[in-house]
Amino acid sequence: MAKRKKLKLKKNARKAILYIIIFTFLSVFLVNKYKEYRYHQTNEYKLISINYTLKEANKIEKELTKKQVKEVIEKQKKDSVLLSLINEKYFLKKNLDKYKEYYKSNTETSFTDIVAIINVGAQEEWYYKTKNADISKKELMLVNKFHLLKEDYDPGEIVKLEGKYSYGEVSANKVTHDAFVKMADAARKDDISLLATSGFRTYERQDEIYREIRNVNGKIYADGFAARAGASEHETGYAIDVFTYSATTDNFEGTDAYKWLDAHAQDYGFILRYPKEKKYLTGYTPESWHFRYIGVETAKKVKSLGITYDEYYAYFIE
Ligand code: DAL
Ligand code: ZN
Repeated sequence: MAKRKKLKLKKNARKAILYIIIFTFLSVFLVNKYKEYRYHQTNEYKLISINYTLKEANKIEKELTKKQVKEVIEKQKKDSVLLSLINEKYFLKKNLDKYKEYYKSNTETSFTDIVAIINVGAQEEWYYKTKNADISKKELMLVNKFHLLKEDYDPGEIVKLEGKYSYGEVSANKVTHDAFVKMADAARKDDISLLATSGFRTYERQDEIYREIRNVNGKIYADGFAARAGASEHETGYAIDVFTYSATTDNFEGTDAYKWLDAHAQDYGFILRYPKEKKYLTGYTPESWHFRYIGVETAKKVKSLGITYDEYYAYFIE
């Protein structure tokens, strides 16, 4: 009797173990199926299904908004232009549609340039779509052909540079004046003379300068060389045109003074504002003499990135 009972118990135990095993397998199977189902709902899976690699899918998810990712998936086709754009260092998701629109009629332009042009708004005609410069940014404010100062802009305290630092009457706002003096003193120790020839200008003075150039050389030349009133950094008090003895706009770039500025200006908070070959972004033919004060920290960053301030502002500040 006891033996039969024992046998039955053994049989039941075997059965129970079998049930447990079946149950475990079934649970694991169902959990996996559920996980698979959930994964198929993800954007990562949907992107991979239309031939993006895992890395590309992750990049798309990282760089775009949820709505943009949805649109990419809805296309059901891999978009190589999108991939090139999101791999650009200064890609801004808010500009995606504009980049693509611009690319359609400018397929020869590099993606780096497309991103830069759209970021700074240079796809538009100069002075066409303008907004007020954000003067609350102080030394970081951007003033260009799309970001204008009002006629009554108050530059704060304007200080005249001493004769040894300037050629003629030149002034700048206090912080720029002081930074320039510090820079010129340092340059002097290296046997370099830095002379400011133009600094702060009023709206009216800028208007006069622009009109004079336009009257002599025409509008196209004038716009590539001088800002219209309201669009000049000189009106902010943060810009200084720097020369040295016997240098002109034609030869300043070849002088030791320019070389010194190229190496050190950022350490005093200044950057070259209109570099070579960047007219399509800045709107100006190169001006090796026009330096803008933006503070030491930002000047060092802009210099090391090697981009124009228009680009820097669009990506890091605006
Ligand atoms: N020459 C520079 C662009 C100005 O007029 O402000
Ligand atoms: Zn200037």
